[in-house]
Amino acid sequence: MKHALIAQAEQVLRRNDRGTYTVPTHGLYPFQWNWDSVLSALGFAHFDEARAWTEIDTLFAHQWEDGMVPHIIFHERDEGYFPGPDVWSTGRAVPTSGITQPPVAGFAVRRMVDNAKDKDLATQRARALLPRIHAWHRWFFNSRDPEASGLVAIIHPWESGRDNSIDWDAALARVPTEGVEPFTRRDIQHANPAHRPTHAQYERYIWLVQTFRSLGWDNTKLHDASPFRVVDPGFNAILIRSCADLAELAEQLGEPEIAKQSRDFATRGIAALEKLWSDAHGQYLCLDRSTGELIDSPSIGGLLAAFAAVPTERAAAIARRIDKLGDAAKFLVPSHDPSAPEFDDLRYWRGPVWLIVNYMIADGLSTAGQHATVERIIADSLALIHESGFAEYYSPITAEPCGGAHFTWTAAMVLEFLAQPAAVA
Ligand code: GLC
Repeated sequence: MKHALIAQAEQVLRRNDRGTYTVPTHGLYPFQWNWDSVLSALGFAHFDEARAWTEIDTLFAHQWEDGMVPHIIFHERDEGYFPGPDVWSTGRAVPTSGITQPPVAGFAVRRMVDNAKDKDLATQRARALLPRIHAWHRWFFNSRDPEASGLVAIIHPWESGRDNSIDWDAALARVPTEGVEPFTRRDIQHANPAHRPTHAQYERYIWLVQTFRSLGWDNTKLHDASPFRVVDPGFNAILIRSCADLAELAEQLGEPEIAKQSRDFATRGIAALEKLWSDAHGQYLCLDRSTGELIDSPSIGGLLAAFAAVPTERAAAIARRIDKLGDAAKFLVPSHDPSAPEFDDLRYWRGPVWLIVNYMIADGLSTAGQHATVERIIADSLALIHESGFAEYYSPITAEPCGGAHFTWTAAMVLEFLAQPAAVA
């Protein structure tokens, strides 16, 4: 059973491999995506370590001079995706988008070094990546935390990686739509429109892109100019975890200055996260930086915070909250609380289960000693694969596969889950 599943997962990765990068899936997403690639490298590392390192190297080869690592690299022309390079117009030799995505590389690179069979290769590649990843982290704190709060804001919902989460509804409603150039969406030609964001959301996504473009993608201006500025606990937890892991790696590789700065970022971030805690919800919440208020939206962003080394009692509360969600959802972890009126079990980030988030939550809770919850998350993740294949995301109620099929990072997470002792395939 386990062998067959591993073989299938490897096949998905190979199928989406374009040589030096992978696409998330053919058709719907024909380019390289930032956090997809980094998490997918963890999958490749199980059967081809050199290929895994190449995946991350290719992404960082397109890092901007200011340190940002873009969310999409448009390696080849493909008319099947909107918004393409002409809409972004970032002026790069190989076109990229102009926003970023969750910075999971610090975590992934440390894990790949720890698990490497070829230690020389791992040390050599990690050493080359170290200053680049650090530059990305510094970019975050410079450009997205101008008041030095310890936490960074996203300025576009797509940066969160949870594109149409209910978390963004109120802040996105304040984004205007005047002047949005007419467009044709491609995503709904590849996937069921009922599983995707709405047209009203897309208009605002594009308004933000046009506005940033009109500012020449100058990151010294974009944060303050954006009407959408949200501090997402999940996103910040990924950044904090990556800083902490990079600190360890820098220590091992004899880079004390990077180690010190990275540790400082992580320590300040963990302390600042406390402001996002909600006793009423038993989880962290997003903060709207434009209004200064917490966003009353019980999403998976506040549970993903467990990926960072949050205080033990916070991790325990998150585990209890996830156990409770498990009463309403057959498959953990729904991306939104099923009892909330806006919950939609099929629509992208408004309810469905995503294996990558399950993986990161399980990893954090495992370190925090919450083993029963971790076992259920892993068992549910593998049950979804057995019932519905390697989909992009799944209904937490019925296991219906949604979005794209043969999905790269879903397959990569299966390889990671199956390598863990708690996994029963
Ligand atoms: C969607 C997801 C995002 C992912 C991308 C490619 O935009 O919301 O997290 O990176 O697809 O898979």
